[in-house]
Amino acid sequence: MTVGVCYFPEHWPHERWERDIEQMAEAGIEYVRMAEFSWSRIEPESGEIDLSWLDEAVSLISDHGMEAVLCTPTATPPKWLIDQHPSILQEEPDGTPRHYGSRRHYCFNSPAYREETRRIVSTMADHFADNPHVAGWQTDNEYGCHETIRCWCDDCATAFREWLRERYGDIESLNEAWGTTFWSQHLRSFDEVDPPRHTAAEHHPSRLLDYYRFSADSAVDYNAIHADLLREADDDWFIAHNFMGDFDSCDAFRFADDLDLFTWDSYPTGFAQDRRPAAASPNELRAGDPDQVGMNHDLYRGAKQQPFWVMEQQPGDVNWPPYAPQPGEGAMRLWAHHAVAHGADAVLYFRWRRCREGQEQYHAGLRKQDGSPDRGYHDADQAATELAELDLDTVDADVALLHEYDNLWATNIQPHAPDWEYWTHMRQYYAALRARSVQADVVHPDRDLSGYDAIVTPALHLVDDALAATLEGAVEDGTELLLTVRSGTKDRANKLPGVPAPGPLTDLVGATVDQHESVPERLDRQVTYDGESYEFRTFAEWLDTDDATTVGSYVGGVGDGRAAITEHEFGAGHVAYCGVWPEADLADAVVTDLLDRADVGYSERLPTGVRAAQRDGYTWVMNFTSDPVSVALPEDARLVVGDDTVDAFGATVYEGEAADLSVDEG
Ligand code: GLA
Repeated sequence: MTVGVCYFPEHWPHERWERDIEQMAEAGIEYVRMAEFSWSRIEPESGEIDLSWLDEAVSLISDHGMEAVLCTPTATPPKWLIDQHPSILQEEPDGTPRHYGSRRHYCFNSPAYREETRRIVSTMADHFADNPHVAGWQTDNEYGCHETIRCWCDDCATAFREWLRERYGDIESLNEAWGTTFWSQHLRSFDEVDPPRHTAAEHHPSRLLDYYRFSADSAVDYNAIHADLLREADDDWFIAHNFMGDFDSCDAFRFADDLDLFTWDSYPTGFAQDRRPAAASPNELRAGDPDQVGMNHDLYRGAKQQPFWVMEQQPGDVNWPPYAPQPGEGAMRLWAHHAVAHGADAVLYFRWRRCREGQEQYHAGLRKQDGSPDRGYHDADQAATELAELDLDTVDADVALLHEYDNLWATNIQPHAPDWEYWTHMRQYYAALRARSVQADVVHPDRDLSGYDAIVTPALHLVDDALAATLEGAVEDGTELLLTVRSGTKDRANKLPGVPAPGPLTDLVGATVDQHESVPERLDRQVTYDGESYEFRTFAEWLDTDDATTVGSYVGGVGDGRAAITEHEFGAGHVAYCGVWPEADLADAVVTDLLDRADVGYSERLPTGVRAAQRDGYTWVMNFTSDPVSVALPEDARLVVGDDTVDAFGATVYEGEAADLSVDEG
């Protein structure tokens, strides 16, 4: 397990570089990532390439026993290039350009930018080919950051029409798939299809969904330019991209064929504030939400069902969330352990030193702007030492959460409730598993599902016969399945099937959906389950059972007594359908029953903010709270890091099973 850092030599006087790089090596750093925003430094004038500075930085890094990870610099095209080709700029739905002056100011479908990308990427790839000190490449930087996956410019309009032509073949097939007789939206030709620009009322849900799919595909096509050129130059390099947390418009799974390595950028105290409906608790402001960060770890591991990297790890205070709290003492070390426990093979801190200039002056580094150690430096150094001894296989999860971005887009397009949010719904089940120390892969349904004892499918909204058959095959062979609310509601074109939900899943579920409703707090939100009373939230479905058994029913409200949760034996396995969005206690009950049926071991329910994760025979106990906890370790456990008291924002590692531990708060 290795620790690394993101470094920007171009930000610092040349005479400082050697000292910086020497200090990185002293801290146990093994990888140094560079150059993602350096196009105007590499090519200050059109055609005048200067890579000598990067050559020198790479040489210094290798002289000190470390390896370089380089980036293609296309996230920030220089001003002279935008002046040459203003059509590169993206446009908002109302036509407003996204001007030069920040970053990500280019359209994925700009022919001019794709040509310029080929030129600069091949120039760098050819220059560094066969350089033994460049381990691999990151393509661009955070595709879609600042909401730039979707663009409404004329180049996107042209590309969208071509995308639709390829997907539907002829315009009548598109009219049929979308259902365009509604509101007089019938189309006579693909040329009549525009990007969904500003309108008085909401857009057609099928057109919007296809536009989201097209936009996500545009980023994938653009990334393939980088990957193909880099591989052509030197196929020893790994090709990676750095994705983002809880990011909804970029479909990371669609990049799997073009990337060797998935990486993502983890900023726990920021994410707890700016991409969850719930307000961040004091502990989350100091160390983040372990299930929010953990689910992203497990998604980027699940993308290729292999180890991933954290390409950018928060190093201290960060500038972009609503607030910039200092992380808890030890949090930067805890985050590195958390990532490795969830399958990361490398954790690179963003950045080496706080930058004196530009938009991120109020963003920490491992060192302060004067080069002195900052709060994260000693954490990183300690984590590097502790993790260097571990050489681990990937996480071997017994449970899979199925995820498709199409379901996120479709349910968030028609939420039916102000508090319907796909990631939050999915995390309800993920958190129930993690509170029981159960690891889960977040995977696309087209992945190999044969190795999982249990599968959970949060809001598996768009279902076709092929997906239903995949799930039927798994359950018939003995996999235990838990389907959740809003599953099987629509077909792949985002249209209601001609039969009640769950449509193609009906044989599996053994019940159908008679009614759905979204329910605010001031309405009844109670169900019984296994004779106990529980709360649910946001969304509910009234089920009519065929040969399924009712195991949960509504109490009160218009649906009083109607079936809410069902179980159905199917082949060697069972299918549970949870027709409500469960609150935490009900989620725990439904999930532990699933784990019992699947014979998957689990621990007692861990306290909020305390998590255990197992990887290759080692278990991490991680404390994301400001109070120490004591751990009753399994009898045969061998302590590797720490001891049986896990300090505030601390981590203990032992050789042994996660399911056998217990934790006492205080
Ligand atoms: C993202 C970007 C970085 C930087 C950090 C700040 O991860 O990739 O360039 O802006 O956020 O936290």
